Amino acid sequence: MRKMGIVAVLLAGVAVVLVLFGQISLVGQGNWPSRFQSNGERIYFTASSASGDAINPRGGNTHMGMMSNSGCASCHGADRLGRRLMPNFWTSAPPLTAVALFGEHDDDGHGDHDAYSDESLRRAITEGIDAGGAPLDRAMPRWSMSEADLADVIAFLKSPIPD
Ligand code: HEC
Repeated sequence: MRKMGIVAVLLAGVAVVLVLFGQISLVGQGNWPSRFQSNGERIYFTASSASGDAINPRGGNTHMGMMSNSGCASCHGADRLGRRLMPNFWTSAPPLTAVALFGEHDDDGHGDHDAYSDESLRRAITEGIDAGGAPLDRAMPRWSMSEADLADVIAFLKSPIPD
């Protein structure tokens, strides 16, 4: 009889751990696509390439140490609409939609930077230089990745965001 009680307690404990784990892994990932349509999308969400080539951020906001293995989505949002960073909420990661990056920027509320080209976008991602030639805030990591992976990310950023 006593043995049964111990087993019950153990099972309950395992259930609690599973629930907690499920919840922890869901934080910020609830609106992730269930499978990635392209390597660029995969890199945007996971900072890992389907090719297995290394992708590494240098610097950037550390998300209280939880940055490991998280891609652009962790700062710029799964919806690519940008968001404030934590814990330094006074810094915002801007929207990375095709319109925000490549569109005209007069007074559409998206900020006042020049439109990006493929070349200047490549520089922004790898060297942290914006479309107008000014350095981006250090909260934006400087990324190293292969040319092919960079082209895939840029193609993904040019794709329209789903409704
Ligand atoms: C740790 C947070 C973080 C991550 C991860 C991150 N970024 Fe950023 N990014 C930022 C911040 C903050 C800025 C704004 C910097 C500024 O305002 O000077 C930014 C700016 C940019 C800009 C310039 C946008 C503009 O409007 O001029 C581009 C392009 C960009 N990020 C692309 C990426 C890509 C691509 C990835 C993934 C490979 C990525 N970022 C990952 C935080 C991040």
